[in-house]
Amino acid sequence: MEQQARETYRALAERLLSAGSVCVLTGAGVSKESGVPTFREADGLWNKFRPEELANVEAFIRNPERVWEWYTWRRDLMSKVSPNPGHIALAELEQLLKSFTLVTQNIDNLHREAGSSDVVELHGNIQRNKCQDCKSLFLPDDPRAAMQFREGELPGCPDCGKGLLRPDVVWFGEMLPEAEIQRAWSEAEQCEIFLSVGTSAAVYPAAALPQIAKAAGAYLVEINPDRTDLTPLADVHLAEPSGVALPAIVQAIQTLDPEN
Ligand code: OAD
Repeated sequence: MEQQARETYRALAERLLSAGSVCVLTGAGVSKESGVPTFREADGLWNKFRPEELANVEAFIRNPERVWEWYTWRRDLMSKVSPNPGHIALAELEQLLKSFTLVTQNIDNLHREAGSSDVVELHGNIQRNKCQDCKSLFLPDDPRAAMQFREGELPGCPDCGKGLLRPDVVWFGEMLPEAEIQRAWSEAEQCEIFLSVGTSAAVYPAAALPQIAKAAGAYLVEINPDRTDLTPLADVHLAEPSGVALPAIVQAIQTLDPEN
C-alpha cells in the first residue's frame, strides 16, 4: 500500500476508534466478490431482467410461477456462495467499535453468515418466506411450510390456508419493514461516522440514509470502486472493492490499538 493510502486508512481508523457511533449501509457491491450479481452495473441483473416482471406484487399475482422460478434461481445461487473478506471485516468492526450498526439492502444473508450479529435488513431476507395474504413469516427450517417452489406446485400458507407463500423480500412499490427503516433512520441521524459501502445509492428510501447522516453532521465515507451520486457529498471516497478496503480499515484499527 502506498504511503498516502496508508495515511488515509490510519486517519480513518483513528476517527472510527474515537467515534461514539458508526453506521454502515451496504449494497450489492459488498457481495459481488462472493459471486452474487449486482443490479445496475453493465453485467447487473436489471440489465438482463425486467424488475417490473419479477420484483413486484402485480407480477406475482399475474404469474407466480415466473416470479418463483426467478427467486428459486437466486436462492440457489445465494445458498452456494460464502462471505468474502468485506463481510468478515464488517463482522470484525462490530466487535472492535463502541457502537456499530450495520444496515443492508442485501437479501443474501451473507452478513450474518460472516458473523455480524445485529443486521438491519431493509429489503428482507431471501431465506425467509411470507404469506402474501396474512403476512405470516416462515423460516427456512419451519416444518409447517413448503419453503420451495416446485414445478406446478406453488407453496401455500399453512397459517391462513388461502394465501400463497412468497420470498420475504421487498418488491418495487412495497413499503420497507417499519421497525427496520425506523431504526436505520434514527441511527443515520445520530451517528458520528456513516459508511456507504458497495451501493449505487440510487434506490430510496435506503439512498436517503447517507444524506440524512451527512446533513446531521456525520463524517461520510464511501467505499465503491466507481463514483456514484453520493460521491460529491462524501468526506472520503475509497475507490477500492469492499473486500480490499474494509479489511484494510480493520488492519489499520488493529495497528493503532494492538489490544484488539
Ligand atoms: P447496484 O447494482 O445499484 O449498485 C452496486 C454498486 O456496487 C455499484 O455502485 C458498483 O460500483 C458497486 N460495486 C461493484 N463491485 C464492488 C465491490 N467489489 N466493492 C464495492 N462496491 C462495488 O446495487 P444496490 O445499490 O445494492 O432492491 O441496489 C439497491 C437496490 O436496488 C437493491 O437492494 C435492489 C435493487 O433493485 C430491491 O430489489 C428492492
